[in-house]
Order: sequence, then C-alpha cells, then structure tokens
Amino acid sequence: MNPSRAPAPRVGCSTALLICAVLVGAAGCLYPGAEVPYVQTPSDVVTAMLRLANVSATDVVYDLGSGDGRLVIAAARDFGARGVGVEIDPGLVAQSTESARRAGVADRVAFRAGDLFQTDLSDATVVTLYLSPEINQRLRPKLLRELRPGARIVSHDFDMGDWVPSQTIRVPSRDPTSTVFLWLIPPKS
Ligand SMILES: C[S@@+](CC[C@H](N)C(=O)[O-])C[C@H]1O[C@@H](n2cnc3c(N)ncnc32)[C@H](O)[C@@H]1O
Repeated sequence: MNPSRAPAPRVGCSTALLICAVLVGAAGCLYPGAEVPYVQTPSDVVTAMLRLANVSATDVVYDLGSGDGRLVIAAARDFGARGVGVEIDPGLVAQSTESARRAGVADRVAFRAGDLFQTDLSDATVVTLYLSPEINQRLRPKLLRELRPGARIVSHDFDMGDWVPSQTIRVPSRDPTSTVFLWLIPPKS
C-alpha cells in the first residue's frame, strides 16, 4: 500500500482533547488560567446536547468554557433560548460576540471573559460542559449549590464520577461516537 494513500487515522473528540491538552501543556501555550485547551464540540453533538437538555425559549443556557460560542449561539438561534458563555480567553470571547451578531442573536446572548469557577450560575436553567473529568468533579459542588432544582446539566464526553446521570446518549454519526450525559439538579433538602 502506498503510505501516502493510507487513510488518515480517525480520532475522536475526547482523544483530540487529551492529545491537545498534552501538546499545548508541553508547549506551554495553554491560555493563562485555562485548565483545558480549546477544542470544539462538533455541530451534531451541539444539537444533541441541547435536545437532550430539552432547551426551549424559556431557558437560560450557560456554557462554561464557551470556546467560539457555538453552544450558546445554537441555543439562541435554533431553540429560542437566552444564553451566557464564560470563557477565559478574551480572543475567543470577541470571536463569539461577533459570531452572535452575525447569527442575529446578539440581543439574547452574552459572552464574558472570566474564570468559570468565579461565575455566578444562579440564573442558569441549563449548563453545558466540555471540559475534563477532573474539572467536572470540582464543579459539582458549585453546580449543586448555585443551580435551582430542575436545572439541567449536559456534558460532552465527560461524566461526574459517582453522580449517576439521568440519561446518557451516544451521538451515532461519529466514529468513535461522542457521549452526552444529562443530570438534573434535585430538590433542595
Ligand atoms: C474543550 S473547549 C470547549 C469549547 C466549547 N464549550 C465547545 O464545546 O465547543 C474548553 C474551553 O474552556 C476554556 N477554559 C478552560 N479553563 C477555563 C476556566 N477556568 N474558565 C473559563 N474558561 C476556561 C478554554 O479556553 C476552552 O475554550
């Protein structure tokens, strides 16, 4: 077989995220303060996450580590929700703000430059995540403390340790498939 014609290896999003984390970490070019690098959720997985969370026009969707803003913009454009993206890299915040303007949803979304751990989540009804297993575990007490009962959390590929999800789906069009987890905030005791 001509090696130049060999099919390119197919790498899943999480594998890409892990490889990228190692590479950018090693190169020292992770954005200062960022705990994971910027890797995009593919658009079919974005739609699957928002559908799994049953997002509607009454929702306020927060994406923690919002990258180029795609989850928040899709929530507003395709589901009529309002949304907030929190992102440590101000360049990505500027890009997201411009993309929201072009998508015609600038009046329903906001992008903030900041640390997701310092962000008040009390007005969120849906939180979306594509971070890491370790960050999800660290976020868990904050989510349980600040979100209202019935709020939904959806995470691309990474679970929350022993917090069992209400639902887990696989997005079948990808190889390897992406996994999306859903949790509901329980009633306050
Ligand atoms: C894997 S990307 C996910 C981007 C987007 N949510 C998506 O699914 O396409 C994670 C993002 O989190 C941002 N990030 C990492 N640590 C952060 C922190 N402590 N506070 C806010 N954003 C952070 C990174 O800069 C990166 O853009």
